[in-house]
Amino acid sequence: MIRPATVADLPALSALESELFGVDAWSEHAIAEELDGPGRRFLVALDDLGQVTGYAVTRASDDLVDLMRMGVSSSHQRHGIASRLLEAVLEGTDHASRMLLEVSVLNAPALGFYVARQFSVIDVRPHYYRDGSEALVMCRWLPGANRLAEPGRA
Ligand SMILES: CC(C)(COP(=O)(O)OP(=O)(O)OC[C@H]1O[C@@H](n2cnc3c(N)ncnc32)[C@H](O)[C@@H]1OP(=O)(O)O)[C@@H](O)C(=O)NCCC(=O)NCCS
Repeated sequence: MIRPATVADLPALSALESELFGVDAWSEHAIAEELDGPGRRFLVALDDLGQVTGYAVTRASDDLVDLMRMGVSSSHQRHGIASRLLEAVLEGTDHASRMLLEVSVLNAPALGFYVARQFSVIDVRPHYYRDGSEALVMCRWLPGANRLAEPGRA
């Protein structure tokens, strides 16, 4: 099941952040700010017992949607949870032209996931992470991109 995250999910989300992102994990305070930040959509995936197994956070502004975070607990990976979260955050983004994200060049599972889901590398940000590794900026075109080709648009 996928549903919007609530304040009650904060402890579980904080634990998942630490498990998945270590020193780069968002604090519980930072996660709380994402719950109702401007343009944010924060979804959680739950298992049959109601435990949080994954989450995704997007920020929409104008015709861009940033995929700010996506994570699935190690013990639940490769069961399609991130795929379902991505489908869910894509719902209602038809107005937008692009979904953008940043991912470490060293993060092979995430790169494999995003490339398999129509994201392409459009830029590189050197020394982006604490370990000095570079971030790849990836883009997936969304239905609103068709408007960019309308006559009269520069
Ligand atoms: C990236 C991540 C979200 C994928 O979650 P997931 O629930 O395992 O993904 P799904 O099961 O929906 O999709 C799995 C697909 O992703 C890709 N993938 C996942 N792990 C992979 C790996 N280790 N190597 C290569 N491809 C991988 C494959 O295309 C795979 O499809 P397959 O199982 O049919 O081969 C998960 O690995 C994760 O949480 N990683 C740690 C946090 C992170 O790096 N988040 C992204 C940056 S914000």
